[in-house]
Amino acid sequence: MLAASSSRSLFLALGSTRLLLPTCLARIVSLSARKMSTTASTSAAGPSNANAFLEAVKTRRTAYAINSESPIPDARIQEIVETAVKHCPSSFNSQTTRAVLVFGKNHQRVWDITKEKIKAIVPADAWEASEKRLNGFQGGHGTVLLYEDQDAVRALQERAPLYAEHFPTWSEHTHGIHAFTIWTALTAEGLGCSLQHYNPLIDEDVAKAFEVPSSWKLRAQLVLGKPVSGPAEKTFQPLEERVKVFN
Ligand SMILES: Cc1cc2nc3c(=O)[nH]c(=O)nc-3n(C[C@H](O)[C@H](O)[C@H](O)COP(=O)(O)O)c2cc1C
Repeated sequence: MLAASSSRSLFLALGSTRLLLPTCLARIVSLSARKMSTTASTSAAGPSNANAFLEAVKTRRTAYAINSESPIPDARIQEIVETAVKHCPSSFNSQTTRAVLVFGKNHQRVWDITKEKIKAIVPADAWEASEKRLNGFQGGHGTVLLYEDQDAVRALQERAPLYAEHFPTWSEHTHGIHAFTIWTALTAEGLGCSLQHYNPLIDEDVAKAFEVPSSWKLRAQLVLGKPVSGPAEKTFQPLEERVKVFN
């Protein structure tokens, strides 16, 4: 029963693109679809839904001034991350993104590791400013460590050599989509977040501390906490120079 409904979803989902897929890749997608649970297609969304989404997009900002509190329980933060990881798109539905959530003393540990690593490489007279910045992140409530599983990327490359050069790029795109979704959703619930990149400096020590599989490659650290001030002013480039429309 499950296999039958899975095959039907696959056929509907692939539609015309199936014609473009090499047979080997169509087989990968087909096998993956059989292994995975399926979700019924989503309901039709009206214009008001788009506005709510766009409002959340506009509200998301970088927040550096945060404290160790959270306006929502950790379980809700986990639910948001899990929802994003489950439903965000990925190339050929490869689902390469992984996440590690750290709160409390585990959050402190990530930023102790980062401080140690940064202190070892910055000139002595630059350490004070770096330490102040890192203390800001450490003073937050938690961190979402975002990874891309390189085993999953390599498996796709081996099974579909025709697309091999694209899979690492598509994995990065997938990471970006996840980072943005989680950032936007957490902000919509009242958290302040910023996206940090102390990888690859901290990768090894963080992996040891949290038993992260060696194939998971750290891509970003999303720091979160209760915002204690509003975001900085933001400037915008003219849209006419960035968007072209042909009616
Ligand atoms: C791909 C990407 C990488 C970023 N990396 C960093 C970073 O390493 N450190 C940081 O403080 N902010 C980082 N940012 C945040 C940007 O500086 C910020 O989004 C931008 O200035 C616009 O401000 P806003 O987030 O308030 O809209 C990054 C943002 C993106 C999208």
